[in-house]
Amino acid sequence: MKPVRVLFVCLGNICRSPLAEGVLCALAEQKGLASALQVDSAGTGAWHIGEPPDGRSIQAARRHGIDISAQRGRQLRAEDFRDFDLILGMDENNVRTLKGLAPEGAAGKVHLFLNYASGRSEDVPDPYYEGADAFEALYQMLEAGCSSLLVRLGERTS
Ligand code: 4NP
Repeated sequence: MKPVRVLFVCLGNICRSPLAEGVLCALAEQKGLASALQVDSAGTGAWHIGEPPDGRSIQAARRHGIDISAQRGRQLRAEDFRDFDLILGMDENNVRTLKGLAPEGAAGKVHLFLNYASGRSEDVPDPYYEGADAFEALYQMLEAGCSSLLVRLGERTS
């Protein structure tokens, strides 16, 4: 069975999408689904290429036993639309940008993360200008979303 390749996308690739990547990998590992998935993340913007995730995301992950500190920011690439099966934007702005960049035939891979995961058409809001509390809320939102996503992907990979 070929793994499902999932790309999480936000604006900077330092707050939301690296944490989503870490959470989904950790949950997949716990559920014995790690080999069924390939997970990565990227930003639509170029400001944080090569940087580790935001310290507040690293800390939020660490509080829950997940280490995302080795991740490095990267910008979305044209090949991502070929190399991934699912491209999940954290908010509607990300989804709009992704759909604008998607080549013919690839727009169907692009979804709003929480809508795809759990049918709730809700953004994962940008926490960059928020305080540390927002990152615990972000973690909780991503954990719930990634759990639902795994149920949906489990149906696809079993
Ligand atoms: P992210 O958060 O999209 O969740 O990584 C942001 C990080 C950086 C910026 C904006 C959002 N920025 O403007 O640099």
